[in-house]
Amino acid sequence: MKILRTRSEVKSALAPYRKEGKTIGLVPTMGALHEGHLSLVEKSKSNSDITISSIYVNPTQFNNPKDLEKYPRPVEKDLKLLEDNGVDFVFLPDDGEMYPSETRLKFDFADLEKVLEGEFRPGHFNGVGIVVSKLFHIIQPDHAYFGQKDLQQVAVIKRLVNDLSFGVEIITVDTMREKDGLAMSSRNIRLDDRDRLVATILYRCLTFAKDELLAGRDWFETKEKVTRRFLDEPKARLEYFELVKADTMEKVTAITTGETFAICTAAFIKEVRLIDNLLIID
Ligand code: PAJ
Repeated sequence: MKILRTRSEVKSALAPYRKEGKTIGLVPTMGALHEGHLSLVEKSKSNSDITISSIYVNPTQFNNPKDLEKYPRPVEKDLKLLEDNGVDFVFLPDDGEMYPSETRLKFDFADLEKVLEGEFRPGHFNGVGIVVSKLFHIIQPDHAYFGQKDLQQVAVIKRLVNDLSFGVEIITVDTMREKDGLAMSSRNIRLDDRDRLVATILYRCLTFAKDELLAGRDWFETKEKVTRRFLDEPKARLEYFELVKADTMEKVTAITTGETFAICTAAFIKEVRLIDNLLIID
């Protein structure tokens, strides 16, 4: 596994493979890797000839400076994990390489960023759009792999690829969960043992709500029950719990047959903010 730190190193490292007609798969990450990230690597390895993963904690997508500062950065451990999982190249740029000067670029993802994460993390998807565009330009992958865990991010990136005609295919990979259902996340390591147990409330409420909907129960009543469950848990604070169309993120209040919906949630467990979602295919 080779570590590449600059755009020109990426260009010369990948050129021979491109020339041979090999396909290049990109797995973008912010590090603090877990099995969720590694499932994207595995998918890329089975689907693309060459796998390159990027590790870059992108400052422009953090709306909360404390969250950026506290974001874990176990780089040596991450590199070992990627190597052990058969990644061919790692792109590990520094801030100067990614942002040679301050960017003032503004994307407008319209309806897609007015709800859920977009509503509660202003500017977040602008930062994601900028960094992912940069990664696509620098690496020029044939395929790029993203987790369903960040469902709205996938929708934003698909729109970005479509609107700017990037020549990359976006592949979505299922959410990896711990045995008790908690979605794997780099932020989970900030939870102590007790909070880690409390954090299962997200998945418990998602599965409860999904079952209720599939049993034909009313969405408002279901949401009310979920809100009450959160109020009963002093360490957890619900930020949102919404039923949306899975492709457009449009909020809805009922499911219909023939379309895919998702229940999306964000909640704080003490000061750690977690997100999760479940698809509903009726
Ligand atoms: P990060 O949070 O490190 O996630 C990198 C990728 O791993 C994302 O596509 C995310 O959806 C996926 N992922 C995270 N947890 C997962 C899980 N439990 N199961 C499956 N996939 C999971 O998302 C980002 O970084 C950044 O926004 C990035 C796209 C790298 C741009 O900076």
